[in-house]
Amino acid sequence: MNNIEKRWWKEAVVYQIYPRSFNDSNGDGIGDLKGIIQKIPYLKELGVNVVWLSPIYQSPNDDNGYDISDYRQIMTEFGTMEDFNQLLTLCHQAGIKLVMDLVVNHTSDEHACFIESRKSKDNPYRDYYIWKDPVNGKEPNNWGSCFGGSTWEFDEQTGQYYLHFFSKKQPDLNWENEKVRASVYNMMKWWLDKGVDGFRMDVISLISKDPEYKDGEPGVTGYSSFNVCANGPRVHEFLQEMRQEVLSKYDLLTVGECSGVTLEEAKKYARSDEKELNMVFQFEHVSLDADDDNKWGLKPFDLMKLKEIMTKWQNGLEGKAWNSLFWCNHDQPRMVSRWGNDKEYREASAKMLATCLHMMQGTPYVYQGEELGMTNMPFHDLSEFRDLDSINAYREMVEEKKIMTSEEMLTALRKKSRDNSRTPMQWDDSENAGFTTGTPWIKVNPNYHQINAAEQLQRPDSVFHYYQKLIQLRKQYEVIVYGKYELLDAENPDIYTYSRTLGNEKLLVVCNFTDKEISYQIPEEYRNGECLISNYVEQNSGVLRPYEAFVLHINIL
Ligand code: GLC
Ligand code: CA
Repeated sequence: MNNIEKRWWKEAVVYQIYPRSFNDSNGDGIGDLKGIIQKIPYLKELGVNVVWLSPIYQSPNDDNGYDISDYRQIMTEFGTMEDFNQLLTLCHQAGIKLVMDLVVNHTSDEHACFIESRKSKDNPYRDYYIWKDPVNGKEPNNWGSCFGGSTWEFDEQTGQYYLHFFSKKQPDLNWENEKVRASVYNMMKWWLDKGVDGFRMDVISLISKDPEYKDGEPGVTGYSSFNVCANGPRVHEFLQEMRQEVLSKYDLLTVGECSGVTLEEAKKYARSDEKELNMVFQFEHVSLDADDDNKWGLKPFDLMKLKEIMTKWQNGLEGKAWNSLFWCNHDQPRMVSRWGNDKEYREASAKMLATCLHMMQGTPYVYQGEELGMTNMPFHDLSEFRDLDSINAYREMVEEKKIMTSEEMLTALRKKSRDNSRTPMQWDDSENAGFTTGTPWIKVNPNYHQINAAEQLQRPDSVFHYYQKLIQLRKQYEVIVYGKYELLDAENPDIYTYSRTLGNEKLLVVCNFTDKEISYQIPEEYRNGECLISNYVEQNSGVLRPYEAFVLHINIL
C-alpha cells in the first residue's frame, strides 16, 4: 500500500460552472443563479460531488467577474443573496458541495478600497494597492500585463503608477500590508460561515511580489512575462498564515490556480501535511502547444511531450502533494477541438481524452459542456469575441505591433481564445440551445442542433453517459483515486498507456491519440482483466481503432 491519507476532496469530481454561460432563467441573455438551481438535477445525474462557481460577486465585468467591486454582494445580473442561499441549500440537499472562486490577487478598480486608495498619497487605503513613482518619467519596470500593454497604469491625480497584472481595471492588492490580508481572511470566513465548502484561488501564485521590482526578459511584445513574478518570496508564508487563520478551521476543498508553478513549488503549495492548500492547478500540459513567449504562437500537439509532463507531475507529487486533473476551464479552448478530433471522431476522441485524464491520480475537474464533447466556436470575425484578452491581443499583435496579420491572429483566436469555452451551454436543440429565451451575451455555437444535453441524456452511448460512468467508477474503485501511476510504452508516439497500482489491484489504461488504427498487444498480465470502460463496443485484439480507449482491471495475488 502507498501511504496517501484518505480525504473526501481526493475522492471527489469537481464540475466547473461559468455562470454567465450556463443557464439563463429570466431571458436577459445572461446565465444566472436561478438558472443554475434549475440544473441541479442534471449535475446530480452526472454524479459530480462538487461544483466550483466562477465568480458571482458584484463586478463591473471588465473580465467577467474576475474584477470584483464588492465581495459580499451577488452580481446584479446573476441574482440576489437569497438566490445564492437557496442554491447553496439545494446543492447540499443534492449531496453536492459548493466551492467559490476567490479572486484576491486583485480587485476591481471600482472596489471601495481602490476608489479611496487612488484619492491621495496619504489616504488610509493608499497602501492597500501597489503604487510606485515613475522611473525616468516612465513605468517603474518592463513587466507586461497578461492582457496586453504594461502592467503599470499612470494615475494623473497623484502622479504615480499602480500595478495591475491583468487589465487596468484589476489593480493588484498589496499583500505586504497586513490589513489587506486581515480583510481577505475576514471575507473568506464570512462565506465559509454561510456554509460554502471551499475555494478555487485565482492566480494565487502571484500574490507575493518581489520587492525589488526588477526588469524581466522582454518577450515578443517588448514586455516581460508576468510569470516572472510567480511564486514570490512570501507566497508560502501568506498561505500558511491563511491556513492558520481561516482554512484550518473548516473542512474544505482548496485549489490554487498557480500560474508559473514548478513541480518543486507545487510540493509546497499542495503539501500533504496540509499546511497550505489541498492542490494546485499547474499549466505545463496546456502550454505545450504554445510558444514559450507568445501564447498566440501555435505549436502542433506532441503526445510525447504530454506524456512526459503528465508523468512528471504524477510521479513527482506521489505521496508528497496532490494533483488536480483538468483539460478544460473557462480560460482554455475546448479540448476535443484541441487534441482530439471535433469532426468524424468527436465522440470517440472526447471519450478517449476523458479516459486518459480521469484514470490518473488527482482530483478531476470537468468544465461545463466538456461532458457533452462541446467544441470550439467557428468565430467569423473579431466582432464576435467578448473576451478582453482576445480583443486586446488582436489590437496589440495586429494593429499596434504588427507582429501577426489579421488572418493569422484570427486563426490563433479560433484555436486558443478563451471565448471558445464561454459560448452558452448547449441544453437542447431549441433556439439558442435552450440557454436563453432572449439574446445571448455571446453567440451560441451553431452545432447545438447535433451537440446538446437533451439528445445525449436519452442516448446510452453518449459522451455524457461516458463521463457519468467515469465518475461512477472513481467512487467504486479506490485504485482510481489512490493508486500509484506508472507510464508504460514511453516511446510510443501514438498511444498513451499507463498503469495504476494499489495493494493487489491494478489498472491498465490505454488511449490511442490518433485517427488511425495502431497495432497494440495487451500485456500478458492484463489479458484476462475486466474491462471497466471503453469507447468502442466490442474488444478487438491486436489493433486499436481511431481514438480507442479502454481500462482493464485485475487483481494480483
Ligand atoms: C485567472 C482566471 C482568469 C482571469 C484571471 C484574472 O487566470 O482564471 O479568467 O482573467 O485570473 O483574474
Ligand atoms: Ca439571466
